[in-house]
Amino acid sequence: MIIAVDGPAASGKGTIARALARHYGLPHLDTGLLYRAVALTVERLGLDPSREADAVAACDFDERVLADPLLRSDAVGQRASIVSAHPLVRASLLQRQRRFAAQPGGAVLDGRDIGTVIAPDATAKLFVKAAAQVRARRRHAELQATGSSIGLDQVLADIRARDARDEGRAAAPLVQAADAAPLDTSNLSIEASVQRAIEMVEAQR
Ligand code: C5P
Repeated sequence: MIIAVDGPAASGKGTIARALARHYGLPHLDTGLLYRAVALTVERLGLDPSREADAVAACDFDERVLADPLLRSDAVGQRASIVSAHPLVRASLLQRQRRFAAQPGGAVLDGRDIGTVIAPDATAKLFVKAAAQVRARRRHAELQATGSSIGLDQVLADIRARDARDEGRAAAPLVQAADAAPLDTSNLSIEASVQRAIEMVEAQR
């Protein structure tokens, strides 16, 4: 069983994907971390994320970077959306994601293009979304909890910028797969979102 969970930043897709993996006893891959690892490596090598050749050079990143706490920062997320627009970066990370999805027993993957490109034949596909204001409030609360003093307006502007880049790029843009079930978490608690996600997977398998 392969479960594809796609959606924009701070929509709740990561939380839902982790909960589905626990529920079904499947391994889980947060594919955003791969693009974040490329972005952080580009930065550390002093390269330019907007140059495709520079970003490609960072695709062969040191695996230890995947455990770096800096990976989850907003700044790295923004740069991840710059490196992820390069077709050669996406091609370089494709097989790794497909191999993960092809494990015996199955897997849960979350990202932007799992249902459309990585696993178009997934058993179940969810497209998790939420209003930009709601996503900004969630991300803002998370950042405050880590001691950040960034304002809500800035977080909202960052989310909108990242949405625009992810939806507007030519290579594997963020878009709901035709056969994905939409799940709007704007007015749902985490528990209710997970419950609804399990019902949607059950309806598709
Ligand atoms: O999901 P997360 O916020 O960690 O993703 C960081 C960035 O990586 C996204 O904004 C997007 O540009 C890119 N990404 C992608 N395809 C994926 C997962 C993430 O392009 N499957």
